[in-house]
Amino acid sequence: MSDRVIIFDTTLRDGEQALAASLTVKEKLQIALALERLGVDVMEVGFPVSSPGDFESVQTIARTIKQSRVCALARALEKDIDAAAQALSVAEQFRIHTFISTSTIHVESKLKRSFEQVLDMAVGAVKYARRFTDDVEFSCEDAGRTPIDNLCRMVEAAIAAGARTINIPDTVGYTVPSEFGGIIRTLFNRVPNIDQAIISVHCHDDLGMSVANSITAVEQGARQIECTVNGIGERAGNCSLEEIAMILATRKSLLGVETGIRAKEIHRTSNLVSQLCNMPVQANKAIVGANAFTHSSGIHQDGMLKAQNTYEIMTPESIGLNRNNLNMTSRSGRHVIKHRMEEMGYSERDYDMDLLYQAFLKLADKKGQVFDYDLEALAFMEAQAETDAHYQLQQLVVQSDSTEGVATATVRIAIDGESKTEAATGNGPVDAAYNAIARATAHKVNISSYKLGAKGEGQNALGQVDITANYHGQNFHGLGLATDVVEASAQALVHVMNLIRRADRVADCKQRMQQSKELGSV
Ligand code: KIV
Ligand code: ZN
Repeated sequence: MSDRVIIFDTTLRDGEQALAASLTVKEKLQIALALERLGVDVMEVGFPVSSPGDFESVQTIARTIKQSRVCALARALEKDIDAAAQALSVAEQFRIHTFISTSTIHVESKLKRSFEQVLDMAVGAVKYARRFTDDVEFSCEDAGRTPIDNLCRMVEAAIAAGARTINIPDTVGYTVPSEFGGIIRTLFNRVPNIDQAIISVHCHDDLGMSVANSITAVEQGARQIECTVNGIGERAGNCSLEEIAMILATRKSLLGVETGIRAKEIHRTSNLVSQLCNMPVQANKAIVGANAFTHSSGIHQDGMLKAQNTYEIMTPESIGLNRNNLNMTSRSGRHVIKHRMEEMGYSERDYDMDLLYQAFLKLADKKGQVFDYDLEALAFMEAQAETDAHYQLQQLVVQSDSTEGVATATVRIAIDGESKTEAATGNGPVDAAYNAIARATAHKVNISSYKLGAKGEGQNALGQVDITANYHGQNFHGLGLATDVVEASAQALVHVMNLIRRADRVADCKQRMQQSKELGSV
């Protein structure tokens, strides 16, 4: 049996489907490029039949990504498989992942069919998908709760129909490791054609068992793990990619398998996913939490000073967490910035040097010293910013009387290049700024979540504001970063206003296309 475990990342499918506001095509592409750099073998990037937006993002990613295999999800229905195949067809090689539920609960209550009917649908779907590619994966949804005889029959039939990967999901995160490992062992013992497929696992974290279940499955012969960056996904999330990668690397002599993950990319990929998905990582999260490499107690610090391996089983550097604090100030030239970006693993195609350098100088003037994490944040914000942004925040002046609980804000916003100034009051500085921005842009949004965090450490940190805003039933995620938290809040709302404006333009365009089609058909 091979000692290589295939890493199948589903951040952009299972992870994305759990977000409050969906990602834009550009954001998904940014994550896909980071996943490619991280070295995932397969990336599942969407469910093309679900919406035209999903179709477009799968197609865009399939066109761009070359080093990882791109995959899309389809129910065991021809129309789903057609959509997946069509979106993926721009790639040289691709995978279609089709699935159907196999547990009695799902078969009877959700599908309202018999197990025999479901078996026929699965076989039909796999054969149909094979018309488009040799690389077909089949998943037995809710396998963790499927009677083992039925599961063995389903796996054997799907392999015979042409599936080259068979995925065994613990869809509701119900099993414990001994039980889940037992399911995988039984499949290897009882399914006669099992050697013709790779056995994959896809575990959810409802009982906090997803990583342990996946590792146990590998010990029993599974050779693909489905996971997401930071463990994001439905409900409590999916098995976390970074934990799997570091378990298999750190305990290689015990487990005897390896992956193609470039561990040094873990830290920044985690950061990017957390930022774009508006999903903060808990401080004590294994591998990527802010405290994962922090030693607090005196006894531990003393041990660390004597020998690092007293309390560290892996180093922060191994996941790309570089504590280098090179002194960058407004006197630092472009070459210093470029050099730091290179040391952090970014190439010039990841950011716009001119925009980054301008933003760096502005920040250096305000803060004095700029750190690696600031630079990363600026490069990230530049990637976020639309260079042709319709609304741009030019000035924000706020006066606040905290004893009375009133504040006044004046904003100057460039709208398509023309400046407009508006003032408004509110029950605090952020509220006043938001009212003034709403006036200037003539968009009234409902803020459903507002999160204030820090990017960086201590007094030198930048304020980061993440908001989710609802406009006409649709959620938009805005991000702002500045030394001043009110300014960061205002930037986040302006970011949302730009997304709304873009969504309105897309809607207008679609309506015009529809009208011209109708006129054409009269
Ligand atoms: O959790 C699950 O069962 C899934 C399948 C579609 C693989 O996400
Ligand atoms: Zn899932």
